[in-house]
Amino acid sequence: MTTEDHLTFRQFMLREHRRVGVPKDLIFLLEDIATACRTISHKIRSGAFAGTLGATDDTNVQGETQKELDVIANDQFMMHCANTSRVAALVSEELDNVVWLKDKAEAGDYIVYFDPLDGSSNLELNISVGSIFSIVELKEALPELTDEAVLIAGSEQICAGYSLYGPSTSLVITTGHGVNGFTHLNGSGEFLLTFPDMTVPATTQEYAINASRQKYWEAPVARYVDECLQGKDGPRGKKFNMRWVASMVAEVHRILTRGGVFLYPRDSDNAAMGGRLRLLYEASPMAFIIEQAGGKASVGGARIMDVAPTELHQRVPVILGSAEEVDLLDQYHSE
Ligand code: F6P
Repeated sequence: MTTEDHLTFRQFMLREHRRVGVPKDLIFLLEDIATACRTISHKIRSGAFAGTLGATDDTNVQGETQKELDVIANDQFMMHCANTSRVAALVSEELDNVVWLKDKAEAGDYIVYFDPLDGSSNLELNISVGSIFSIVELKEALPELTDEAVLIAGSEQICAGYSLYGPSTSLVITTGHGVNGFTHLNGSGEFLLTFPDMTVPATTQEYAINASRQKYWEAPVARYVDECLQGKDGPRGKKFNMRWVASMVAEVHRILTRGGVFLYPRDSDNAAMGGRLRLLYEASPMAFIIEQAGGKASVGGARIMDVAPTELHQRVPVILGSAEEVDLLDQYHSE
């Protein structure tokens, strides 16, 4: 198979327009996001020369030190998403408040939520990082342009995706009709369809959790991991492998490729904050992608996409991946 055998991102999206009615404005917006991701990928790959892999003197709204590339990636998303006239507002991990692009937000307008550079503590290590985004279409005009107005549950998303900056640059998206993965063909400026119809196998023997937090775990998670560790002789009756990249995009990509389960649960150390990962631009988009690929995504007893957001930078527990494992963890949470 040669690169000519792969659909370009635009060819694929126009096919989706004809097949399932993906709106052309959404396609334009996704092309702009793809451009942002290509540029971010290039900036990361040249970061060691440009001296941008390290920290700035600033912290973001989460109290995390910003890397220079966090700021660069945020600027790229802001600039390219503002290109489409239908986008009413932008919500970024890196910005305290909503950025309104219009004086009025009408029904049909889009809100774009994004984490421009997730896992950026991995940058100096040359370990994979990524961008995550989510798009909601307003059902009605907004009476007021406030931060509260964009607190919309994940179940309302019309599109979600991520770009993974690893050995190659991937773009994975769902518009609610399955999940498709594209790879950037270096030098061509194109993302080509390389992983059509990505699915999460229902069963797995691999889990991902930051095990250094074990002393904080709540009983259902402690029980689950303990049973996995018991291997063939334990209640699960099979051996489990463990992975932790500390880069959610890379973990989700692995799960979409060969299955597995990813946990960043609530624990006694992060419970006061609600969990670790952010709902609107990390948990919800990844939940939409995983569900569209046949997996499940839960806060531990309830669907992530059903959580009604109460704050812009709200955190939630995240358990997502192969359906069998998420079901079991949900069951342990309900017992
Ligand atoms: O934004 C959060 C993030 O970087 C995720 O990408 C990743 O899964 C997690 O934090 C890593 O957390 P820890 O520092 O506990 O390993």
